[in-house]
Amino acid sequence: MDKVGVAVVGCGMMAQAFHLPNVKKHLGLDLIWCCDLDAQTLRQVKEKFQPRRVTTDATEIASDPACQAVIISTTHTVRFPLIELFARAGKHIYVEKPVADTFDEMKKILHVCGETGIKTQVGHNRRAAPAVRYALRVLNKHRSNPAAPKWRFDREGPDRPTLEGEKSTMVLLRVNDDYWSWKKWAFAHGALINEMTHFADLACCFIPSRPVRVSTLGSRIANHVVTIEYEDGSIATIFATAFGSFGYPKELIEIYHNGAAIIVDHLMEVRVAGIVGEPFRTTFSVLNDRHPHIADQGIEGYYKRVLASQLEALESGDTSLLPEQPDKGHFALLEDWIDCIRNGGHPLCSVDIAAVPTAIILRALESEAAGGLPVDIDSSDYSV
Ligand SMILES: NC(=O)c1ccc[n+]([C@@H]2O[C@H](COP(=O)([O-])OP(=O)(O)OC[C@H]3O[C@@H](n4cnc5c(N)ncnc54)[C@H](O)[C@@H]3O)[C@@H](O)[C@H]2O)c1
Repeated sequence: MDKVGVAVVGCGMMAQAFHLPNVKKHLGLDLIWCCDLDAQTLRQVKEKFQPRRVTTDATEIASDPACQAVIISTTHTVRFPLIELFARAGKHIYVEKPVADTFDEMKKILHVCGETGIKTQVGHNRRAAPAVRYALRVLNKHRSNPAAPKWRFDREGPDRPTLEGEKSTMVLLRVNDDYWSWKKWAFAHGALINEMTHFADLACCFIPSRPVRVSTLGSRIANHVVTIEYEDGSIATIFATAFGSFGYPKELIEIYHNGAAIIVDHLMEVRVAGIVGEPFRTTFSVLNDRHPHIADQGIEGYYKRVLASQLEALESGDTSLLPEQPDKGHFALLEDWIDCIRNGGHPLCSVDIAAVPTAIILRALESEAAGGLPVDIDSSDYSV
């Protein structure tokens, strides 16, 4: 099968750390173009990733018939003009999150992508992470066949009535981030728009109902608690601080539904209770393991690798190096998009899917501005 010709537009940190290495690793892709406004960045990526061509002018890519698909990894303030340019030229688009930072822009993006029929993917990569896919499989199995294991501390026994709340889902997403690891442009806009769309997206993955209301306590920049209410009575709460420590795992997701608990600990392990036949603990490996001699996997393995990385960074005097990271699903999301381009099907996080968490966070920003008052979410917020 012929390779799919790809361009990467915006070749900064995210492109160099994930998109360009992943394009090179994907056997079905041919890296034709790298595009950036910055000449120095272009020189760097030309040498390191060897695209066939480089340019500062995105219109060159739009008019190249050899290029079928474009990854847009610019900052989030540069979205619609590029999306419109490539969509109208018939190129499939993978765009980083947040897909838009205003309702007006999001509607225009939904409209042009819908009209042109291209395959889109938005970089809410966590929904493709192995630990999240696993947790979702377990949760959906329990939803369709809620069979409790033999042991349950249960005063009423099997003849008890069903309570309404047992059908809904409670999700807690705890985020421990470090403000000073962020770029100036990112924290100037704030973690709410830049980072929380990822977690609103995860909430929507685990809760298959319509979001109806959102409220935000705290500040859009760093510390906030966002509560999302769903039509079926489910609630998701994002508890995020940007004044924590990268020395401790960043992300914990807790999901509770009908007598079951599913905990996703920093995408490194999933712990399950209350579901018949499911193991208590399933572990996942780090990406690009620099410490293969450490036998532990899961969260224990993560702790040990973080400590080893910190020691190495201190010894080398370079504290800009991050410890190994869990698999956050970047490659899997790229693979899914390419598979849909080649074989048809709906991408895991197309713009119409990503519009929902984006709308939630845009309404969450309004709630923050109103001092935490709840703001309604209407289905017209994320559709055209
Ligand atoms: N999914 C994730 O895990 C994840 C993680 C970090 C960042 N991101 C997202 O990735 C995107 C990029 O973030 P980053 O940290 O790489 O930013 P960055 O500032 O390092 O890189 C952005 C690059 O885009 C270039 N650029 C800007 N406008 C352009 C244009 N019109 N044409 C061509 N190039 C242009 C800039 O010169 C810069 O090199 C952001 O939307 C960010 O939110 C996603």
